[in-house]
Amino acid sequence: MTDSAPATPDAAPDIRPPVTIARKDAPGPGDPGPAPGGEPVLDIRRLRVEFPIRRGFLGRTTGRVHAVTDVDLTIRAGETLGLVGESGCGKTTLGRCVVGSIRPTAGDIRYRPRSGGEPVDLATLSTRALRPFQREVRLVFQDPFSSLNPRMTLRDIIGEPLRNHGLTDDRELTRRVSEAMEMVRLPSGYLTRHPHAFSGGERQRVNIARALITRPRLVVADEAVSALDVSVRASVLNLLRDLQEELDLTYLFISHDLSVVRHVCDRVAVMYLGRIVEVADTDSLYERPRHPYTEALLSAVPRPDPRLRGTGNRIRLPDDLPDAAAPPAGCSFHTRCPYARPEVCAVPGKPPPMVTTGPGHAAACVRTDELGLAGA
Ligand SMILES: Nc1ncnc2c1ncn2[C@@H]1O[C@H](COP(=O)(O)OP(=O)(O)OP(=O)(O)O)[C@@H](O)[C@H]1O
Ligand SMILES: [Mg+2]
Repeated sequence: MTDSAPATPDAAPDIRPPVTIARKDAPGPGDPGPAPGGEPVLDIRRLRVEFPIRRGFLGRTTGRVHAVTDVDLTIRAGETLGLVGESGCGKTTLGRCVVGSIRPTAGDIRYRPRSGGEPVDLATLSTRALRPFQREVRLVFQDPFSSLNPRMTLRDIIGEPLRNHGLTDDRELTRRVSEAMEMVRLPSGYLTRHPHAFSGGERQRVNIARALITRPRLVVADEAVSALDVSVRASVLNLLRDLQEELDLTYLFISHDLSVVRHVCDRVAVMYLGRIVEVADTDSLYERPRHPYTEALLSAVPRPDPRLRGTGNRIRLPDDLPDAAAPPAGCSFHTRCPYARPEVCAVPGKPPPMVTTGPGHAAACVRTDELGLAGA
C-alpha cells in the first residue's frame, strides 16, 4: 500500500483553522497561561530532569545533563499546547515526564483526572499507583516506521495497551480495537493485517489508535507528524483535530516545525536548553514575540507566500545549542543572543524570571521591554 492508495483517506491537503483558544485564570509563577476557559488538566511546577553522565570502568557520575530546568506550564482542558525548540532542548524529556516514562528529579506534575476530584501529583506516585493515570495520559510516538512490531497484527498492536492494563477477554479486546480503528478511520478489514504493508500515514493512524484505545484525556504528540509527507501530514493533523473535538482531548503537541504549530496550536511554549523562555497564545507569539530566541526561530520559518520570500531577515544563531551539562550562566541564551548585554544577561546564579508581558503572554528576558522584536 502507498500513501496514494485509494483505500486511504491520507490525501486531503487542507489544514483547518485552529480551534478556539482555551483560557486560564490561576497562573503559576512562570506561566501566565491563556485567557479563561477550561479547567487545568495538567499543572507542571518547577519541573527538573537531570541525567547523570557516567564515565569510566566503574561508571562513576562525572556530571549531569540538565535536560529540563524549573519548568512551569499549565495545560487546560480542550486546548492544544505547542512545545517548540531546537533539537536537544528537552521537549521529549518533558513529554516523557508527563506520560510517566521518565521520573523527574524534582518538581510537580499535577494531573486532574477525568473522573474529577483533586489533582494528583504524577511525579511522586509509585510506578504501581501511576498505572491507572497512564491510561488517561498517553503518548503518540514520533516515528511510524520503527515503532510498530512487524510480526504483530494490528489487533495485537493496537490492543496491547489494554492487555498491559489487564484486559484478558478476547472478544472485548477485538471490539475495543475495532472501535479505536474506526475512530482513526482505518478500515476494520485491517484488523488481522501486519503493519509492514501500510503507508506512513496509516501507520501513524495505528499509533494514534494505540494511544486512544485506553480512552485518554491528555495526549502527548511528540513529533507525531514530522516523519510524514506533506499531504499525509495534513490529513493526520486534521484527524487529530477531529478526534480532539469528538473525544474531548487535550494535546501537548511537541514539534520543531513552527509552520505546523501555528496551524494546530492554541498556545505555544518555547523551550531553550531545558527552560521555557516564552509562552503565549499562538497569534500573539507569532506576531509579537517577546524573547530573542523566539524571534530567531520565527525568522527561520519559510514564508508560504512567494511575494514575501526573501523579505524577512533571517537571524542566524551562532554555533549549536550549548552543552546541557554546562549551561551558560545567567540567561542560558546570552551566548547566542544578538541583543545580549553581559552585565545584565550573564550574571551567574540569576537566570531571568518569566515575566508577564501582556495578556496570557510571558517571556524570560530582562531586556524584553527595550527590544522591538520582529514577528513571523
Ligand atoms: N536518557 C538520557 N540520558 C542522558 N541524557 C539524555 C537522555 N535523554 C535525553 N538526554 C539529553 O537531554 C537533553 C534533552 O533531550 P531531548 O531528547 O529531551 O531533546 P528534544 O528537544 O526532544 O530533541 P529533539 O528535537 O532532537 O527530539 C539532550 O541534551 C539529550 O542529549
Ligand atoms: Mg525529541
